[in-house]
Amino acid sequence: MFIIFPVLLFFSRFSDGTDIITSSDNLSDGRTLVSRDGNFELGFFNSASSGKNRYLGIWYKNIPVHNVVWVANRCSPITDSSGVLMINNTSNLVLLNKSRSIVWASNSTNEAQNPVVQLLDSGNLVLRDRNGSILWQSFDYPTDTLLPEMKLGRDLRSGLNRQLSAWKTPDDPCPGDLTHEMEPYNYPGLITWKGSKKYFRSGPWNGIGMSGAPHLKPNPLFKFDFISNKEEVYYIYHLINKSVTTRLVLNQTSIKGELYIWNEEARTWKLYNQFPWDDCDNYGTCGAYGTCVNTALPPCQCLKGFRLKSQEGSSEDWFQGCVRNKPLDCQKGDGFIKFGGLKLPDTEHSWVNRSMNLNECRAKCLENCSCMAYTTLDIKENRGCAIWFGDLVDLKKVEAAGQDLYVRVSAADSDHEGTKGKTKMKAGLIIASTILVAIGALVITNYICRGSRNVEGIRNGTSNDGQNEDMELSLFELAELSKATNDFSSHNKLGEGGFGSVYKGTLLDGKEIAVKRLSKSSEQGLVEFKNEVALIAKLQHRNLVKLLGCCIQGEEKMLVYEYMPNKSLDFFIFDHTRRNLLDWPRRFYIICGIARGLLYLHQDSRLRIIHRDLKASNVLLDGEMNPKISDFGLARTFGGEQSEGNTKRVVGTYGYMAPEYAIDGQFSVKSDVFSFGILLLEIISGMKNRGFYHVNHNVNLIGHAWRLWKEGNPSELIDSFVLESCTLSEVLRCIHIGLLCVQQHPEDRPNMSSVVLMLSSEIETSLVQPKEPGFLFEKKSFETSSSFSKPKSSSTNELSLSVLEAR
Ligand SMILES: *[C@@H]1O[C@H](CO)[C@@H](O)[C@H](O)[C@H]1NC(C)=O
Ligand SMILES: *[C@@H]1O[C@H](CO)[C@@H](O)[C@H](O)[C@H]1NC(C)=O
Ligand SMILES: *[C@@H]1O[C@H](CO)[C@@H](O)[C@H](O)[C@H]1NC(C)=O
Ligand SMILES: *[C@@H]1O[C@H](CO)[C@@H](O)[C@H](O)[C@H]1NC(C)=O
Ligand SMILES: *[C@@H]1O[C@H](CO)[C@@H](O)[C@H](O)[C@H]1NC(C)=O
Ligand SMILES: *[C@@H]1O[C@H](CO)[C@@H](O)[C@H](O)[C@H]1NC(C)=O
Ligand SMILES: *[C@@H]1O[C@H](CO)[C@@H](O)[C@H](O)[C@H]1NC(C)=O
Ligand SMILES: *[C@@H]1O[C@H](CO)[C@@H](O)[C@H](O)[C@H]1NC(C)=O
Ligand SMILES: *[C@@H]1O[C@H](CO)[C@@H](O)[C@H](O)[C@H]1NC(C)=O
Ligand SMILES: *[C@@H]1O[C@H](CO)[C@@H](O)[C@H](O)[C@H]1NC(C)=O
Repeated sequence: MFIIFPVLLFFSRFSDGTDIITSSDNLSDGRTLVSRDGNFELGFFNSASSGKNRYLGIWYKNIPVHNVVWVANRCSPITDSSGVLMINNTSNLVLLNKSRSIVWASNSTNEAQNPVVQLLDSGNLVLRDRNGSILWQSFDYPTDTLLPEMKLGRDLRSGLNRQLSAWKTPDDPCPGDLTHEMEPYNYPGLITWKGSKKYFRSGPWNGIGMSGAPHLKPNPLFKFDFISNKEEVYYIYHLINKSVTTRLVLNQTSIKGELYIWNEEARTWKLYNQFPWDDCDNYGTCGAYGTCVNTALPPCQCLKGFRLKSQEGSSEDWFQGCVRNKPLDCQKGDGFIKFGGLKLPDTEHSWVNRSMNLNECRAKCLENCSCMAYTTLDIKENRGCAIWFGDLVDLKKVEAAGQDLYVRVSAADSDHEGTKGKTKMKAGLIIASTILVAIGALVITNYICRGSRNVEGIRNGTSNDGQNEDMELSLFELAELSKATNDFSSHNKLGEGGFGSVYKGTLLDGKEIAVKRLSKSSEQGLVEFKNEVALIAKLQHRNLVKLLGCCIQGEEKMLVYEYMPNKSLDFFIFDHTRRNLLDWPRRFYIICGIARGLLYLHQDSRLRIIHRDLKASNVLLDGEMNPKISDFGLARTFGGEQSEGNTKRVVGTYGYMAPEYAIDGQFSVKSDVFSFGILLLEIISGMKNRGFYHVNHNVNLIGHAWRLWKEGNPSELIDSFVLESCTLSEVLRCIHIGLLCVQQHPEDRPNMSSVVLMLSSEIETSLVQPKEPGFLFEKKSFETSSSFSKPKSSSTNELSLSVLEAR
């Protein structure tokens, strides 16, 4: 979609081989300056799409793609080739157009005698006076590229903020909304912004690196520094081997910072590193006190001592983050839990002291009730104190570069009964703060040594509140599933549903699985998706298909279920010969199983799931013909809004959808009850509601059942095979219940707990008389519902629909 811009840029052709212009000289369009070593070139170029727009910029002279590393007039192109760069008589570098108006100018305030402009070997364009002092330099005004030796950060004296901003599009150098800069906090790291939203944090500098940027660790190509003093705060990187060519560029298209290295043999740029690195890098993904663990399912986990803020766990709840198990009591005294291997939280509300030790730091934190965590400021020197106020956000598990963090919790929850090292720390603190600082320091040193050896025990400082204990949910590799399903061959295909195709697979250990390859319609982020999968997997009931795990790789998202050897209910009840395998007792058993599974989804599970697509083909049968509902929970993920109410996207199958849902998009547990009623009538009659045909009248199955009921002949509805094996009263009760479930008005329909009760009452209880059902006349009902996009009519194939309704 995007044009790769460098190839299509047209550059000034001629260079005089000079690297300097003086105040009596100028640089007109067509001429260039070349740095002394011949690596960089300054001149005019234009971008492809806006053909005549010319910009003054710097690019690599020896690299054929001529990547532009700096642009002067980013948002004010010159529309012809009349541009001239010169030094004006107040020692400013100015870019003039045809009418000699200033299109762009440097902001030097110092006047100088005989200033000159020079393009240095580093790629820096400098304006100097005769004595060599710099009046202005392009390195102070970066565009989208950070070159070695360039400072990324702030000059605290002048207020200058050297930040990167991406090109708006590959051929418009005007800044887009992606920027990368030094945080303006006491305890800063680098931050990437997307517009006014925080997008990625590197985590604060700790003397060695930045905890959220493990890729910035020392390497053979370059070394980096983080300078922080009264005058300046900046990040800078230096090449170790000067003959290497490298650039860090902020890319609006990929929404990433990308570090490239020029590969001379292949004559291409090689992507060496990038940020954000993984999905857990997106700012604040797991909310306050939530840690993002990229390899875990769910990725968002609460810190130990915390639990999910909302116990009704829908995926959005992760963004509300976690809360303490027990509230703090600042007066009576709180404690701390130590967590290892973390990307430190957002330091917007933080405070530092460079000389305090960890002990003093802890005391400092305890004395202010809004202090929520502390840690060592400089882990290289092992001193200094950093403390956080307010909620801790944007935590991530990073084993490689992660750091320790001491998080405030109530005394009861704190670590004192944890490892011996910690007990010692407490004791040490009391001594230190009351009697002898020196001894205290000794104890602390002791503690720190133990602490680092004890990392094992503390490393997994995240807990699942026992949520994980009853399930083994796996993250599968794409290659593994591909192998298991014979490369998703059509032979392995079991069926097609509203959310994608299902394949049978066999894992290496011989275990059979069903893999649902989801269609690429979800706009959900990957971390949210994984959280959601983990939530669905927690739904466990013997009448629900068990979710074993998922696989996410690139564009692909897949769900892995236990394999059901006996296919689905529709495979039996609608088939002339196979229907004979299901006698009435078995059918009644299946009906009760479905009812219990649905009841669990509606009421008993923590999540309160509305299935929205219950139908015969979504009821699978295991080896013993036990019914198991499948595809539950997917509507949450794929179907738009999550709660009862209106939905813009209607997910469901014609013939099973309740009228209020099909027509108005109103869904509730009662629309599932409607689908259950249909299913019940289908199981009894062996006929499909949709596609039902009767010689005498144009009603559908519900209409037919209703007519027979009113005529007092409900038994005519019963499948002749069923009739042989049944207790008539039981079947009649089921027809009665079915009709109660498909009543027109949702409020008249029973809920699933009453349905289960009615099904299981042995004695003939008096059930209320059903009122007229909804959707008696299949065709009429659908064609008059104007807001509904009609399905492709297909009588054999019952695909679930997810239709974006025009409302
Ligand atoms: C630039 O210099 C050339 C000669 O070197 C001169 O003819 C031209 O007028 C100058 N342009 C400007 C805008 O001063
Ligand atoms: C700069 O040039 C303008 C005319 O272009 C002149 O009026 C002014 O005196 C000059 N200033 C200096 C400092 O030379
Ligand atoms: C020169 O630039 C000025 C200020 O940006 C603008 O008003 C003018 O139209 C431009 N002239 C030409 C010929 O492009
Ligand atoms: C020189 O350039 C600066 C920067 O734009 C401008 O403020 C100043 O007026 C210019 N001087 C002259 C004489 O054009
Ligand atoms: C010059 O200063 C103005 C106002 O402070 C600023 O908007 C502009 O970006 C600066 N120009 C350059 C080239 O830095
Ligand atoms: C540069 O040298 C000149 C004399 O040649 C002197 O007047 C001026 O102050 C010097 N500037 C700086 C910044 O040292
Ligand atoms: C520096 O890099 C160049 C090109 O990548 C390589 O040929 C050379 O051996 C390197 N020098 C050192 C000292 O590593
Ligand atoms: C930005 O990313 C896009 C897509 O990933 C890529 O095609 C393009 O080359 C990148 N731009 C730069 C300047 O690296
Ligand atoms: C930092 O801590 C030291 C030692 O406790 C203390 O002397 C100093 O005043 C503190 N500095 C600040 C800015 O609080
Ligand atoms: C605690 O820290 C906050 C934030 O720095 C500050 O506003 C507040 O005054 C402090 N409270 C006490 C009791 O020191």
